[in-house]
Amino acid sequence: MAAAVLGLIAGSYEQVTFGYRVKTDEEKWSAEADFTHHAHTATVSAVAASERFVVTGSKDETIQLYDMKKRTDHGALLHHSGSITCLEFYGTAHLLSGGEDGLLCVWSTRKWECLKSIKAHKGQVTSLSVHPSGKLALSVGTDKTLRTWNLINGRSAFIKNIKQNAHIVRWSPDGDKYVVVVNDKVDIYDLETASVMGTITNPKRISSVKFLNNSILAVAGDDETVRLCDVGKAGCVCEFKAHETRVKAVDSLMMDDYCVVVTASNDGFIKMWRIHLKEELEPPTLLGEVNTTARLTCLTLWKPSSVQQVAEEAAPKATTSEELAQELLKTKRVRIAAEEVILEDESKPKKKKKASGK
Ligand SMILES: *[C@@H]1O[C@H](CO)[C@@H](O)[C@H](O)[C@H]1NC(C)=O
Ligand SMILES: *[C@@H]1O[C@H](CO)[C@@H](O)[C@H](O)[C@H]1NC(C)=O
Repeated sequence: MAAAVLGLIAGSYEQVTFGYRVKTDEEKWSAEADFTHHAHTATVSAVAASERFVVTGSKDETIQLYDMKKRTDHGALLHHSGSITCLEFYGTAHLLSGGEDGLLCVWSTRKWECLKSIKAHKGQVTSLSVHPSGKLALSVGTDKTLRTWNLINGRSAFIKNIKQNAHIVRWSPDGDKYVVVVNDKVDIYDLETASVMGTITNPKRISSVKFLNNSILAVAGDDETVRLCDVGKAGCVCEFKAHETRVKAVDSLMMDDYCVVVTASNDGFIKMWRIHLKEELEPPTLLGEVNTTARLTCLTLWKPSSVQQVAEEAAPKATTSEELAQELLKTKRVRIAAEEVILEDESKPKKKKKASGK
């Protein structure tokens, strides 16, 4: 068995993106510096990773690419005018970006062309999330709307007025529900009814959320504590002090029989935690930590193929969005509900087909 390796990638106020390599087959996990990428001229505001590329977005209005195979800078994507606020890969061939300019862009990861540029929100796009099936995306913005996008044809499928400016939207891993975050509140929506099933209130403004499984949501915000909330009960079931100052980002992944939660903070530390997702949630144990010495803003985990293979052997669960899409297709209920949303609420197709400026 190949040594199991996990990558931690974090962006910072100091313009630099840090990459660390962690050996996960040791008792104490230590993060070794792997690379630094200093391509931005302002704060790094978003980061995402595919198997091959790390992409970062910044207040400098650019998206920078880093090739994890060649370990080199891979150029920049210039299209947005305004900060990049969100980045998400879907499938192996596409990247979605959102920005303060209100645009949602679909990029091909093969030639790094902008395939589609959509004026998605009247204000800024603050967050986006691709459905596990890869067919739909949700976005929220500063025009107080939640929008559903049909990724097959790139059209707006559904617009919901949510009365407030949300800053985070996330699908659950099964894609049967999603959460919308406004300041310190998480509204949990049911896909089928598109109505709020419950609301979780965090003591502070929320900076990041991550579903650990389909029912447990990790919530981090403007304090040192990470809370694990049960979206079914709409309440927190466990909390732990993760850092010395505010937690800026949280990500996770499933290992054989436990969940690894990784947190990044303003205090400069990235910490790795082990959580057993059993009936009775217990506070996690610290697996390891690293002092990046920078004020971190965003975080993602990077999994080279060796880890994916290990994970695949351990559990016959989907590890790519295509596999997940196939699994989702088997779950008829979810698929039908998603399609009903599109069909019932499809807005008029946009007639205007503006040539993209530049
Ligand atoms: C998720 O984890 C919780 C808490 O450990 C567990 O009780 C629940 O059964 C899990 N849910 C799913 C959908 O796996
Ligand atoms: C992290 O590293 C910085 C720079 O080396 C140092 O000043 C700081 O004290 C370290 N933090 C902790 C808690 O060790």
